[in-house]
Amino acid sequence: MGKLFSSVYDVVMAPLEKAGIERIRRNLLRDIKGDVLEIGFGTGANFPFYQKAAYVEAIEPNPDMIERSAEKVKRAKVPVQTYTAKAEQLPFPDQSFDAITGTLVFCTIPDPVKALKEMKRVSKPGATFHFFEHVKLEHDKAGRMQDILTPAWKAVCDGCHLNRPTIQLFEEAGLQVNNVKRFGKGIFVIFEGKVHGE
Ligand SMILES: C[S@@+](CC[C@H](N)C(=O)[O-])C[C@H]1O[C@@H](n2cnc3c(N)ncnc32)[C@H](O)[C@@H]1O
Repeated sequence: MGKLFSSVYDVVMAPLEKAGIERIRRNLLRDIKGDVLEIGFGTGANFPFYQKAAYVEAIEPNPDMIERSAEKVKRAKVPVQTYTAKAEQLPFPDQSFDAITGTLVFCTIPDPVKALKEMKRVSKPGATFHFFEHVKLEHDKAGRMQDILTPAWKAVCDGCHLNRPTIQLFEEAGLQVNNVKRFGKGIFVIFEGKVHGE
C-alpha cells in the first residue's frame, strides 16, 4: 500500500495544492528560523517554502516517499537533510531543534502520544511548533460520521485517521497551542505554539 500511495500522492494532491494548500504551506513555513525538524515530510512538498531556516532535518518512514523527494531537496533554498525514521523514535539527541513542523501528518502517525513525547525530547527550551492538519470535528454527528468512515479511509489512505483529535492530543501532552485557525467547516486547522509551554 505504501508504494501505491506514494506513486499517486503528488498527482492526487496537485489540484488541492493549487486550490489553497500550497498557499498554506508557504505562509506556515516561510518565517521559521533556526534548526528545524519536519515530521513525515512525504514527497517533500514543504521543502520549497522554507526561506529563513538555518537547516531542516526531515524524517519520513516510507522509502518510496523519500525517493520522490530528492529533486525538492536539491532545489530547496535552505539545507535539507532527510532521514528514514518514525516520529515515535526520532534519531536525534535531546534539545536539538528550535522549531518542529508538520503538514497532514498527525492523522497518520500510529502512536501520536509517543510522537509528541519525542517532539518534546528533541526540542530546545523555547522551541516552537507549526502544523497544518485535518482533525476530528467538534460537532457530535459529524464527528461520529468520521469515526464510522475511518476504518475504510485508513485502508485506502495509508493509515490516515479522519477522526484524530490532534489539537487535544497536543494540549494533553503539555504543548502550548497559541494560534489556531480553522477552516473547511472546521476539518482543517493551522495551529502553532510552544513545545514546552510556559
Ligand atoms: C498524508 S502524508 C503527508 C505528507 C507531507 N507531510 C505533505 O504535507 O504532503 C502523511 C505522511 O506521514 C508519514 N508517516 C506515516 N507514519 C509515520 C510516522 N510514524 N512518523 C512520521 N511520519 C509518518 C507517511 O509515510 C506520509 O508520508
